[in-house]
Amino acid sequence: MTETAAPGLAAPAQTDVSHRVSHTTTDWWRSAVIYQVYPRSFADHSGNGVGDLRGIIDRLPYLSDLGVDALWLNPFYCSPQNDAGYDVANYYEVDPLFGSTRDAEELIIRAHELNLRVIFDIVPNHTSIEHAWFRQALLTAPGSAAWNRYHCVRGLGEDGSRPPNDWRSVFGGSGWSQILDPDTAEPTGWWYLHLFDATQPDLNWDHEDVRAEHEQVLKFWFDRGVDGFRIDVAHGLVKSPGYPFSGESDRVLGVADDVPVLPQWDQPGVHDVYRSWRRLADSYDPPRVFCGEVWVSTPEAQAQYLRPDELHTAFNFHYLKTRWDAEHLRETIDHSLATADSVSAPCTWVLSNHDVWRHVSRLAPENPQGNQDLSTGMARARAASLIMLALPGSAYLYQGEELGLPEVLDLPAQSRQDPIFARTDGAALGRDGCRVPLPWTAQPPTFGFNSTGQSWLPQPDMWGELSVETQLRDADSCLSMYRQALALRADESIFNEGTLEWLSSPVDTIAFRRPGRDSVIAVMNLSDEPLTWMAQKLLLASSSQVTAEPSTQNHALGLVVTLAPNTAAWVRE
Ligand code: NOJ
Repeated sequence: MTETAAPGLAAPAQTDVSHRVSHTTTDWWRSAVIYQVYPRSFADHSGNGVGDLRGIIDRLPYLSDLGVDALWLNPFYCSPQNDAGYDVANYYEVDPLFGSTRDAEELIIRAHELNLRVIFDIVPNHTSIEHAWFRQALLTAPGSAAWNRYHCVRGLGEDGSRPPNDWRSVFGGSGWSQILDPDTAEPTGWWYLHLFDATQPDLNWDHEDVRAEHEQVLKFWFDRGVDGFRIDVAHGLVKSPGYPFSGESDRVLGVADDVPVLPQWDQPGVHDVYRSWRRLADSYDPPRVFCGEVWVSTPEAQAQYLRPDELHTAFNFHYLKTRWDAEHLRETIDHSLATADSVSAPCTWVLSNHDVWRHVSRLAPENPQGNQDLSTGMARARAASLIMLALPGSAYLYQGEELGLPEVLDLPAQSRQDPIFARTDGAALGRDGCRVPLPWTAQPPTFGFNSTGQSWLPQPDMWGELSVETQLRDADSCLSMYRQALALRADESIFNEGTLEWLSSPVDTIAFRRPGRDSVIAVMNLSDEPLTWMAQKLLLASSSQVTAEPSTQNHALGLVVTLAPNTAAWVRE
């Protein structure tokens, strides 16, 4: 008998949320699966073309049924939206574009009712130029007390007409802008630092007001019940004293970037900030948690942020950047686990987010015509996700990855909103392609994103086939695979603790065991040839069609599982 196991098996009708182990323990964050909601592109309740908090509330049952433990929301605070809300004008209020502070409070309550925890995003490295502090500074002369909350530095040359040093903006161009005289609008010879857009001035973390104010912001939202914060640019807050030259060449944020050690990033003083934040988070019951966006050169440098009195977790971008290569993957997993373990922290796996190409497109090889082979990209993405969900630690999913959405590369120039596109004169496309609003149904024009047909970014025609509605009907869909894997992960206690043991496997494949009472083995075939694997018992889940036949040679061995290229599976020993 040949049993062909559908990749998703049967999608669970309704997830029973009461038994998730992660919600009954205080260190839920060590093994949680956290779903990143990009509010402007998730679901649009108001119908103005931009997603909002009420849209998220409407769709909380979807997230509960998907089987995640928590959600992280990108910033929704008052902002002129020059960098999609990462330019905050008021940290205590929700931008009317997204709703109200009351909506944010309701979202937390409604999520908790479904046993979903909620993580917000704090942006401490910079404010918007619309923030009260910067507006106040602009009214005063450079060097004033108001300017001291930012990095206001005299330029080079007698008249200060050259920037103070060579620090670059991550978004392209100089990291410095001239401060103009408030009365005459003439250059003053003084400059302010912005490591991102010119409308995002960097804060001076040596200033007591800056430290005190951010703790107030944390308290404000902690008091409203939020379970934690993702920390934007967590490695950037403290700059090297004296603003030394970096020798850095121009570069734009991107997944392929190496992260060099530079005087404006990853400075030792930043750790004091997080020690203080950790004390604050620990003073709450239950304790609140942090996940740092820490783009640093090595896992060892990242582990410094995860010492027991600092942050709980940090995104493992080394894993996100791993090539489609079994050896590289194994080394990255090993190295990441060992370094996190050296500070008793869990690893935090991630394959996609709102800043990088979606992993379907990133993992797609070029076909002979020089185009992206998206069907292979999709198979690889599904396999990579299934393996990620079997690794010890926590994992972040980016909205739409459960649908296998690809990067949208052909957005018209006039629709693009990422400042990277403008600051590089279009040389870099920027990040809009991974931020296109989600398809909920197969009906154009906006595929259930809203009912008015408006969308802040155009959605491709193929969105219908990839919609939630279409995929829920298909037991083999990418969405069904995620639901199946998450349901198994929630049921199997081995996924909440312990480590991984490597198993020997043929070249260009990986295999590991999650040991425990009923251990699970995860196998991944990165080669161009089928891979056969002997399993004692069940085929639990697979990323694509996998055949499982009873062994004719030795019945004690159970099943012969055959994995096509670009496929992963979970089996019982
Ligand atoms: C990292 C965020 O993820 C990105 O979207 C943002 O543009 C920069 N930080 C600046 O805040």
